[in-house]
Amino acid sequence: MNLIFLGPPGAGKGTLAVRAVDILKVPQISTGSIFRAAVAAQSPLGLKVKAIMDAGKLVDDETTIALVKERLTQDDVQKGYILDGFPRTIPQAEALAGFSTVEKVINFDIPDSGVIERLGGRRVCRKCGYNFHAVFNKPSKEGICDHCGGEVYIRDDDKPEAIQKRLEVYRAQTAPLIDYYREKGLLLDIDARPMVDEIVINFKKAMAID
Ligand code: AP5
Repeated sequence: MNLIFLGPPGAGKGTLAVRAVDILKVPQISTGSIFRAAVAAQSPLGLKVKAIMDAGKLVDDETTIALVKERLTQDDVQKGYILDGFPRTIPQAEALAGFSTVEKVINFDIPDSGVIERLGGRRVCRKCGYNFHAVFNKPSKEGICDHCGGEVYIRDDDKPEAIQKRLEVYRAQTAPLIDYYREKGLLLDIDARPMVDEIVINFKKAMAID
């Protein structure tokens, strides 16, 4: 099953993707995580994208498309994938259609107030990338990941100015993908406001999984 998770920043795409990987047995491909790993490694890609990401803007289409195209040639995606955070522009969606067949697009429906609450409290493990939340899902020990013992930190793009910028960018460049995929009959809307376990149930219902 080739799936896209589409939605505003902080809608819970990455959090549901971790659960959906277990359910569907296909890998999650998060362009944001790939870029963050490049930034942490200070690779040429990381040096190029760091300031763009910190400001809440999008990396250019050419770089992002080339990255995903290469990733989709790897063995682990032959039975499917969950694309988390790609495509984010119409040109990215058109390019994807040229090298892969998307079967369903899950659209995470959540108001801006929900996004701000989630991103404002997000805490992330620097080592394994697990997402915690200062209120909804705290690590057992402040600042330390329950899963790998890594340091839990606040992403630079979760600062208030960057959150506002990311919402603007989402509305201008990514939200048009909702109609793009709806017209192709691929879109499944899910209510992304409830807590994670309920969203997993909504996801399974939308996907007709028992
Ligand atoms: P990316 O990492 O993709 O950021 P995003 O889309 O803004 O998504 P987030 O990771 O912020 O949110 P999410 O929906 O995954 O929410 P999460 O599960 O973490 O991209 C980062 C940057 O990389 C971009 O700004 C851009 O610069 C660049 N980039 C990436 N892809 C690109 C592309 N295709 N083209 C160009 N540039 C690209 O949840 C958020 C918080 O809420 C967490 O704390 C979590 O614990 C909590 N939470 C989640 N679900 C629930 C729930 N149901 N109830 C309560 N709390 C919840």
